[in-house]
Amino acid sequence: MRRAFTIACLAAALILPMAAAQPPSRSPRTNYMTNCQGCHLPGGEGMYGKVPPMRGHLANFLTVPGGREFLIRVPGVANSTLNDSDLAALINWLVPAMGPDVPGGFVPYTSDEIHRLRRMRLQDVNTLRAALIEQMSADRRAAMLGAASR
Ligand code: HEC
Repeated sequence: MRRAFTIACLAAALILPMAAAQPPSRSPRTNYMTNCQGCHLPGGEGMYGKVPPMRGHLANFLTVPGGREFLIRVPGVANSTLNDSDLAALINWLVPAMGPDVPGGFVPYTSDEIHRLRRMRLQDVNTLRAALIEQMSADRRAAMLGAASR
């Protein structure tokens, strides 16, 4: 009995580190919690003056040219330690969850698309972000700017 226990412990000591070296894919929600929520907060509320709110706003970027690319090129996404397919799953969960609805609906990102876009480094995030918001329809723009100054 004791001997079997010892063997089981040894086996666990050998197998667990191997399992840790190749973690299984986690759910998008779990990946959001461990990789993003420290800055964006659990509901995408953001932090006043530091991290823009995403809830009710994020998908507005999909209504302007360059916005789809921007969502992947921002440093928090592009530089994340998540691999391309986990990142695609996370963004494909996050964008519809945050909303708002966009005309034509949300077209999910593929891992190939993530792979390509995350390598397109952004020189000046704030300038591009402001330019994209400037191109949004008046009501969407007003909502974005109103939320940012609350
Ligand atoms: C260190 C803080 C931080 C972390 C961690 C972080 N972000 Fe961000 N995120 C920001 C800030 C600040 C912005 C605003 C643009 C900028 O300055 O990069 C932003 C912008 C974004 C945007 C564009 C929306 C907008 O309004 O600009 C998306 C999408 C996004 N983040 C998703 C994520 C995801 C997904 C993760 C996790 C994989 C993540 N972020 C991790 C701070 C962070």
